[in-house]
Amino acid sequence: MSKVYYAYLFSAAVVIGILVYYLNSTVQTANASVSLKPEDKSVILLGKNIYAQNCASCHGANLEGQKNWMSRLPNGMMPAPPHDVTGHTWHHSDNYLFLITKYGVEEILGEKYPNNMPAYKDILTDDEIIFALSFIKSTWPSKTKKIHDQINLRSNK
Ligand code: HEC
Repeated sequence: MSKVYYAYLFSAAVVIGILVYYLNSTVQTANASVSLKPEDKSVILLGKNIYAQNCASCHGANLEGQKNWMSRLPNGMMPAPPHDVTGHTWHHSDNYLFLITKYGVEEILGEKYPNNMPAYKDILTDDEIIFALSFIKSTWPSKTKKIHDQINLRSNK
């Protein structure tokens, strides 16, 4: 075979390699899909601690949220909602919950929305966020967990 042919094959392989790499990384960033692990005992244990240290002060030691969480505070902000079944955490997909916790509400809504929920991107690692949310999901009744699994299947965000 001629040198030209080899050169051609080689550059084609490089181009394909770059394409695959590029596609993979864009798919990963566009659809940074995370999955909570509410059945994994060690994850739940770690998550419980992370929740107690980072989330409980607002969302409640028992995930009960702040008092009168559906009414605005005098300063116009919303109180922290519960993460148990009486709240709406379970209405949202794993990914959505992860993104809200990591980047904050405004970043995800894409609009100005003053609120008291901190963004955890410089405070917790991705795994720590997933552990805390997995702990939250682990406390829901199995019926709610099943509904939430369905919400995950249907959602792409
Ligand atoms: C300083 C108080 C505070 C702390 C600490 C806090 N949150 Fe929040 N969180 C809020 C408030 C307030 C809201 C409601 C924001 C709004 O919509 O106005 C919220 C909303 C959320 C939501 C969206 C719930 C929904 O149903 O839309 C998630 C998920 C969440 N918090 C997770 C967490 C996790 C996980 C932690 C700990 C790693 C945490 N929060 C720590 C105050 C807090």
